[in-house]
Amino acid sequence: MSSPFSIRVARDDDHARFTRFFAELGVHDPVPGFERWKSAMAPTTFFVERDGRAVGYAWYEVFGRDGYVRHVVVDAEVRRAGVGRALMHELETRLRAAGCDRWRLNVKRDNAAAIGLYRAFGMDVEHPTTVVRVPWSSVATLPRAAYTIEAREAESREDRALEASFDLPSGRLASSRATSNVRVLRLVDHHDAANPKVGIACFDPAFPGCFPFKVARPEFAHTLLVALAPFAPPDKTWIQLVVEDDVPLAKLLLARGAELVFEILHFSGALPTDEALSP
Ligand SMILES: CC(C)(COP(=O)(O)OP(=O)(O)OC[C@H]1O[C@@H](n2cnc3c(N)ncnc32)[C@H](O)[C@@H]1OP(=O)(O)O)[C@@H](O)C(=O)NCCC(=O)NCCS
Repeated sequence: MSSPFSIRVARDDDHARFTRFFAELGVHDPVPGFERWKSAMAPTTFFVERDGRAVGYAWYEVFGRDGYVRHVVVDAEVRRAGVGRALMHELETRLRAAGCDRWRLNVKRDNAAAIGLYRAFGMDVEHPTTVVRVPWSSVATLPRAAYTIEAREAESREDRALEASFDLPSGRLASSRATSNVRVLRLVDHHDAANPKVGIACFDPAFPGCFPFKVARPEFAHTLLVALAPFAPPDKTWIQLVVEDDVPLAKLLLARGAELVFEILHFSGALPTDEALSP
């Protein structure tokens, strides 16, 4: 039986449609404005249509052999009718065509529908992630490193080493740097200057928040946050951090007054090969 769905790439006039669907993610993030959506998202966004009407969209990014699924949203009125599956099949096809052999994504721990969908496509939990809002007023109460570490802008030539040591997809830092106003800061330990794995943060003042925010030890977070403070909008009393696979840091921040925004599971899986997909 032929599929009732058709796929089409995003057009400029989809921004309002995207904005409506985006609300379904329930992430409280600012909705990307038209210019940002058009340049950074629309080229890898596609919609599923049924009977000529858009009923869902997906947005993905490609980092080397990793396909990052950013958004998967189905119209609330058309759930459980296979649209999510259609989006995932198209993502699979596009990511394989882009040279990826793995796909990954973040999903809220309590999002049973999405978790069911991702498991149905062979993905599984890789690590937990905690999203917190750290009041700037609590930063001074964080423990400090026993010796001086330095925070500075990460230079492009350092990206490969930083991405490899913090297990970030290849190209992740360049992609952040290309987004307007985003600052990419790293930590340097002068006792071990050749070691790239000290700290890294990509800070988007529009949130305001960091994703990723990674430190080798929880007590290094203080230096990184102090260095980010001058870039923060003065009217915001907090900074949002996506703390990936680092339960000690998440616990520390929560114990010192951070607010839990939500808990996430990072899912990943192998993309099926062409052979595996053929009948
Ligand atoms: C998650 C979401 C995309 C699923 O879309 P959908 O079109 O309803 O999914 P499908 O009908 O294609 O379902 C495919 C499979 O997903 C799983 N699934 C979907 N909804 C489910 C639910 N409510 N509970 C459990 N499993 C569910 C099932 O395994 C289902 O297969 P089955 O119907 O054969 O049992 C949709 O619920 C949604 O848009 N939610 C809001 C936005 C969101 O949370 N996106 C994910 C962000 S990470």
